[in-house]
Amino acid sequence: MIFGRPTVSDREAQQRKIKGELLIEASARMGVQALTVGEGDLVFGVDWLVGMAAKHGAPYVSANVVRSDSGALIFPESVIVQVGPRRYGITGVTGHDIALQDGRVEDPIAALTRVVARLQADKVDFIVLLAHTGLDEAKALVQLVPGVDLVFAGHSRRHQEDAVISGSTALFEAGSRGKHVGEVRIDFTEGGHGWADEAGRDRALAQKEQLERQLRRYDEQIAAEDNESAKQRLVRVRDFTKTKIEQTEIPPTDDGKGHRLRGRRVPMNRDIVDQKELGALVDSYLAILGPGNSGNKLEDALAKSDVRRVEVRDSYGDYVTARACMGCHKEEHKDWMGTSHSRAYAGLVKDQRHFDLDCWSCHVTGAGTKGGPTGPGDVGPLKNVQCESCHGSGRAHSLSEAKADIVRSPTEALCLTCHTEEQTEGRFIYSEYLPKIDHR
Ligand code: HEC
Ligand code: HEC
Ligand code: HEC
Ligand code: HEC
Repeated sequence: MIFGRPTVSDREAQQRKIKGELLIEASARMGVQALTVGEGDLVFGVDWLVGMAAKHGAPYVSANVVRSDSGALIFPESVIVQVGPRRYGITGVTGHDIALQDGRVEDPIAALTRVVARLQADKVDFIVLLAHTGLDEAKALVQLVPGVDLVFAGHSRRHQEDAVISGSTALFEAGSRGKHVGEVRIDFTEGGHGWADEAGRDRALAQKEQLERQLRRYDEQIAAEDNESAKQRLVRVRDFTKTKIEQTEIPPTDDGKGHRLRGRRVPMNRDIVDQKELGALVDSYLAILGPGNSGNKLEDALAKSDVRRVEVRDSYGDYVTARACMGCHKEEHKDWMGTSHSRAYAGLVKDQRHFDLDCWSCHVTGAGTKGGPTGPGDVGPLKNVQCESCHGSGRAHSLSEAKADIVRSPTEALCLTCHTEEQTEGRFIYSEYLPKIDHR
């Protein structure tokens, strides 16, 4: 679990604490059978985490987080869960050196070696590792410590739909921020050992087939082409496709010895109906963050009214707002009004998330910049992704009207500060997105 980087302000610390408790309580109520400690869980120290886990009955396991005074583990090192005829030994490790007042993280290799030996002595059927180490580190870890059958990794925020098979271990990671659930279905082979990744094999075979169809098309086109240089070009793409086919790795077939598994990524989108009890829990969290608690009556009133009217101040430090730019750049302003950047705040308000520290900053102008808004209660007239999100604060330019005083060519890197990989899951392709906001 991750609920945030070390804190930067009191308000943020306060929200992280409330959210951390929410996540722990929700995990417990969802009925998860085991979870492990990430560096985010330790932001408020060992005592806080242990207290919260006990309060809500959250079944943490950890083989390598210990108290600094006594060296004692803070949670059970493993749990044995029986499903049908099989017994699963589940353990967890944290892969990061974290300096805490009241605890520390010990070497995961030594810890895992100890726990695997103990679970093997206990004759469990499968050993499952929850690895808050990142996927690559988890792979290195199970190569050093044999005996682990399944790994569910966290921390690298990758989504690994098909298994990464390493020896007789299958590893998965299900993205970040609870946006997906990774589902793994297993068909057990009696007396089987190791894994056959069926979904990965299907996907690789389908990809290979598609490339082969493409190759045949190129061959036909080459045969039909009269122009010599066009022919040469086609030969080059054909050869490239051929190399790609040769390089496509097909996971080995089930030779009857391995258990067959299939990984799948289930998006947690709005089609998934909230469980009532958990929905209520989240609502109560959002109510705590809500504008009613901002202590700012003006902000509260405005949040409830039409956000598009909220230009209460004409300027904000060195920011002069889109309205000021409009005075001299009517066409650009009209184009901008046609993009969702001009409405980016309304979506947050609709979801009642505009006071959420995890959300506000990319949906407003200038957050985190010198002279920009410092927190969700301090946005004033800088709601939405206005001109100055991309062109920089414009007071000097508005006075001088000089090109030198304004950012003339906002770059792709700037877009990526908000259109992050994590936020958009690869949807952001600069050459496709830029024309949609063009206002030259
Ligand atoms: C008082 C009028 C005025 C205001 C207000 C104003 N601009 Fe300008 N802006 C101009 C003029 C005039 C030019 C052209 C300068 C030149 O050609 O040398 C210009 C040029 C620009 C350019 C460069 C265009 C190019 O050809 O490279 C950008 C970008 C720009 N403005 C953005 C903004 C933004 C963003 C705002 C609001 C923060 C803003 N302007 C506010 C008058 C204004
Ligand atoms: C300050 C953060 C921020 C920056 C910088 C930013 N964007 Fe956005 N962008 C957003 C947000 C937030 C939305 C979603 C608004 C909504 O739908 O409520 C968005 C939406 C968009 C959309 C509409 C997507 C759709 O399908 O509706 C396009 C296109 C886009 N941005 C392009 C760009 C480009 C190109 C850049 C860089 C030149 C850029 N953005 C810079 C925050 C930003
Ligand atoms: C790192 C910047 C960033 C953060 C943080 C962020 N957003 Fe966004 N948000 C975006 C961008 C960029 C888009 C546009 C994505 C696109 O269409 O490609 C967007 C789109 C949206 C949209 C409109 C499109 C949709 O998917 O319905 C809503 C609503 C939204 N975000 C809500 C939120 C909420 C709620 C949070 C907090 C949990 C949040 N955002 C946090 C950058 C961010
Ligand atoms: C999401 C980012 C973004 C927002 C918001 C935005 N712009 Fe731009 N603007 C750009 C980019 C990118 C260019 C193109 C620069 C280039 O091609 O080098 C541009 C170009 C311009 C130009 C022309 C520069 C030229 O070379 O001709 C002006 C003027 C301008 N913007 C003004 C505005 C004004 C006024 C607003 C608000 C009403 C605004 N922009 C909002 C990103 C943005």
